[in-house]
Formats: sequence, structure tokens, C-alpha cells
Amino acid sequence: MTDALDRPRPARTRPAGPDRRSDIALVPLRAFLGITYAFAGLQKLASTSYLSPTATAGVAAQMRAAAHTSPIAGVLGTVQQHATVFGLLIAFGELAVGIGMILGLWTRAAAVGGMALALSFLLAVSWHSNPYYLGPDIVFLAAFTPFAIAPPSRWSVDGAVARRLRLERPNPSAPAPDEARRRFLETLTIAGWAGAVGLLGGGAVAAMGRLVGSTGGQAAGGAIRLHPPVAAVPNGSTTTAATTTGATTTGGTETPSTTPPATTIPGTAVGRASDVPVGGGAQFADPATGATAIVVQPTAGSFEACSAICTHEGCTLGYNGAVLQCPCHGAEFDPATGAVLQGPAEQPLATLKIRSAADGNLYVEA
Ligand code: FES
Repeated sequence: MTDALDRPRPARTRPAGPDRRSDIALVPLRAFLGITYAFAGLQKLASTSYLSPTATAGVAAQMRAAAHTSPIAGVLGTVQQHATVFGLLIAFGELAVGIGMILGLWTRAAAVGGMALALSFLLAVSWHSNPYYLGPDIVFLAAFTPFAIAPPSRWSVDGAVARRLRLERPNPSAPAPDEARRRFLETLTIAGWAGAVGLLGGGAVAAMGRLVGSTGGQAAGGAIRLHPPVAAVPNGSTTTAATTTGATTTGGTETPSTTPPATTIPGTAVGRASDVPVGGGAQFADPATGATAIVVQPTAGSFEACSAICTHEGCTLGYNGAVLQCPCHGAEFDPATGAVLQGPAEQPLATLKIRSAADGNLYVEA
């Protein structure tokens, strides 16, 4: 008995792979990234305005707006031509990254995909965030990095498959010759099922979104775009001068007849006033910069115009009948003054002088 107690105990061996506590430490972050990206993808697919070429909250409008400020403006200019395809790629890409991160399935590939999406959003949209840490994309880019570097966690599908194959090794200390191939094929099968569920789920969410959108009205931010002005007027001042059109004779006295008094319209016609609904808004290109602007008509006959580019990170603003709203992070602006009514934006919008003229057009003054 004494011998047994005195006998030295075998040293406790640590399990192979990362320590359990450090292994579980990243699980909450992985869950957050996965849920957030899956939700973002599904939200885009469900939106009736996301793929609309004219909606202010649409991917096409966001690309148009970003093309004026982004360091990859040239790329965005090309991509704009295929905004719907890229919009779908982004939405399904986010969904795939989200599912991969939630399950821990092909975690490194999902993390690299998440980094690529975050980097593209950073370059396209939040490049000018000031200070830089207020932009979320740079934070997402950093948050994905550990998962692109670290080995598979035991709390993941990747880790579970690897562990099971390790237990089946004929020689526990050496991998079986076909272990890597079997691991790939097993995770490929699971990825196929997860992809099919993702595709079906994404399609169902998109269909439901359109069903609800078509019965419940257009999603917020679906502003129209102004049509070209009637009898387009060249840039600069336009003058309708008083002109003599003939003469009438009254009681032997010849009196020249003229058109109505001269009207001077300084500025550039940007579209038809009748295209802007009362209580609604419409986009147009700012004649001075080419950037997207928005004109609203809060009450019949009164027009106000501002830049439609959110000063936070450059998303295109919509109008809810009272304020200009940003679909990205919820900032609100006063369309009359451009003032910030609600953050996170801090800088006001540039306002434009606009007025309607008798010819039915809206003119932006220089
Ligand atoms: S882009 Fe962030 S609030 Fe508008």
C-alpha cells in the first residue's frame, strides 16, 4: 500500500493543440462575426431597394456615391455597370462568411473572405472616416485576422472533424496517409449542405422580403431619380428676354406687342419639378461636382436641395417626408439647412440653391 502511494505519479500531459481556455477565448468573437455577416447578407437579400438601380439605399446608388470619394474610384466606376451582379455577390458572400464563421467550417477561408469584404467596404465607403476608428470596416478587418492565422478551434466543425480523424489513426502519433484528403472531403460534404441551406434560406428571405415589400410598400430610402429637364437648357444663365413679336394698330396708333416680362434664371436645369412628389424627394447630379444630390418638396411648391452623400461614411441618403436619413448607420439631416439632427455623422451636408421655374424645370443656382 505504502509502495503504491510513494510511487511517483506520471506527469500530466497537456492535450495536443491549443490550450482549452485560449481555444474558447475566440469563440464569442467568431459567433459575433458570423451572426453579423449572416444577418447583413440576409438583410440585403430581403430589402426591396438593395438591388434597385434607382433607390437611394440601393447598391447602385451607394457605388455611384462612393465613386466620388473612394481611392478605388476607377474600379467602382467599372463595377457600377454590373451593380446587380456585384450586389448579389456581396450579399451571398456575407451570408457564406457568416455561416462559415458560425459553424467554424473552413474557418480560415471564411475569415479571409470576411477580410476581403471588409477591405473592399473600407476602400469604397469608410476610407474617409475621421477619426479612422469610427469606421466599422477597419475594425471588422482586424477582427477577422486571428481566424485567418489560428489553427482550427476544437469548438468548430473543422476541429471536430480533425479530432475524430485523429482518434481513428492506426498510429496515434502520426497522421494516416489519407487523413488530409478525408478531412477535406468530409468538410466539403458539410460545406455543400451548409451552402445549399444558405442558398435556399437566402432565396426564401429574398422572396419574403419582396412579398412583404410589395404589400407593405416601398422600403425606406427608395427615392426616385429626376428625369432630364424639359427642353434642356445649357449650363449657366438662361435668359428669356422680352421680345417683340409683332405690332397691333389701335386707333391709328401702332403699338408693339411683346412677350411677358423678361425672366432670368441663373443656374442649371437639373430635372422636372413634377418628378418630385409632395412630401417626397428625388436624386439628381449636382451640376458643379457631378455628385449625387437630393431635392425634396416638403410642402407643395417649396423645394430644398442638399448633397445626398452622408458625411459619416458616404452612404446615399433617403427622405422620409421630414428628414434626410442615412440607411447605413441612421444619421439624420435637416434638408433645409443640411444640419445634423442625429449622429453618428458630425458634419452638415452642403446645401444647394434650387428653385422651380415657369418652364417646369428645377434650376440649381451656381
Ligand atoms: S454612412 Fe454612417 S450614418 Fe451615414
